[in-house]
Amino acid sequence: MKHFTSVHDVSDIKALVKQALEYKADPYKDQRLGSRKRIGMLFLNPSMRTRLSTQVAAQQLGMDAVVFNVGSEGWSLEFEEGAIMNGTTVEHVKDAAPIMGKYFDILCIRTFPSLKDRDADYSEFYINQFIKYAGIPIVSLESATLHPLQSLTDIVTITEAISGPGFQPKTVNRKPKVVLTWAPHVKPLPQCVANSFAQWVNTWGEAEFVITHPAGYELDEQFTKGATIMHDQNAALKDADFVYVKNWSEFRDYGMISCTDTSWMLTNEKLALTNQAKVMHCLPVRRNVELSDEVLDGPNSLVTTQAGNRVWAAQAVLAELVR
Ligand code: CP
Repeated sequence: MKHFTSVHDVSDIKALVKQALEYKADPYKDQRLGSRKRIGMLFLNPSMRTRLSTQVAAQQLGMDAVVFNVGSEGWSLEFEEGAIMNGTTVEHVKDAAPIMGKYFDILCIRTFPSLKDRDADYSEFYINQFIKYAGIPIVSLESATLHPLQSLTDIVTITEAISGPGFQPKTVNRKPKVVLTWAPHVKPLPQCVANSFAQWVNTWGEAEFVITHPAGYELDEQFTKGATIMHDQNAALKDADFVYVKNWSEFRDYGMISCTDTSWMLTNEKLALTNQAKVMHCLPVRRNVELSDEVLDGPNSLVTTQAGNRVWAAQAVLAELVR
C-alpha cells in the first residue's frame, strides 16, 4: 500500500479486516513496528473520532503522532497551480507539503468538500496536491468525496457482528442484507461517507446491498454501481440485517437539499420491518432528526462499537504503510 485514500489502495480487504480484528484482540502485538516513525495529522476541518482513534492507533504501534489543526491554527494554504498569491492565502501547498514530508513518515489529512463546485470536489484536488508534493504516504482522514478509514471500520464492524453468536440471517447461506438509508438533516452534508460505504461494500462483495433515498438524492454511480437503489424506504428495510443511516446532500443538484421529509428518520417502527437489524451511523449524529433516541439508545444500535472500531481500522492501515 503506497497511500490510503480509497478502497483502490487496498489489495485485499478481507486481510485488512482480519488484521484490524487481530489488533482489537491484542492491541499491542506490534507495539514496536512503528518505533522511530512519526505521523503528521493535518486537520483542515473539525473531527473527534478520526483524530483520537488515529492517534491511539499510532501510539499502539509505537509511533509518534503530531496533530496540526491547520484550518484554525496554520497559515492559510493555497492549492492552485500558478496562483498569484496577492489574496488571503499565505503559503502554497507545493512549499508546505515537501516540508511536512521531511518531518513525518506518513501524512494524514482531513479536507472536506466545498459543496459548491462539484467538478473541483470530485477531482479530489486538495488531497491529490498533497500526494503530488509531500513525497511520503498520504492517508485520508476524510476527503472531498470519500472517508476510507470510516468505511474500513464499517466493514470490520459488520464482519465482527456476523461472526458473533447473536447473528441470525433470515435464510441459511444468504449474504447479510445491508441497507444504506438516507436520513433527514438540518444542513447540507457531503456525500463522502455514503460514497465511501457504497464503494467498500460493493468491492467487499459479501453483502446483499441496497441503497434507499428520496428521488433526487442519487449518488455518483462510480460508487454505487452494483447496489440496488430504492426510493421506498420501508420496502428497502424489509428483512435488512444491517441498516446504515446517513444524510447526504444532492450530487446532481450539487450540495442542495430538496427533501426535508421527517418520515425518513429511522425509528423503532421502521426497525420492526427488518430482520432485527443492527443499526450503524458514522457519528456525529443529530438525535431525533436522523435517528430517534429509542433506536440510538436501544439494543440494536452498533454506533458505539462502530466508533470504537475506528482504532483497529486505523491501526491496520498504519501498520500496512510502515511494514
Ligand atoms: N465519523 C467521523 O469521521 O467522526 P469525526 O468527524 O468526529 O472524526
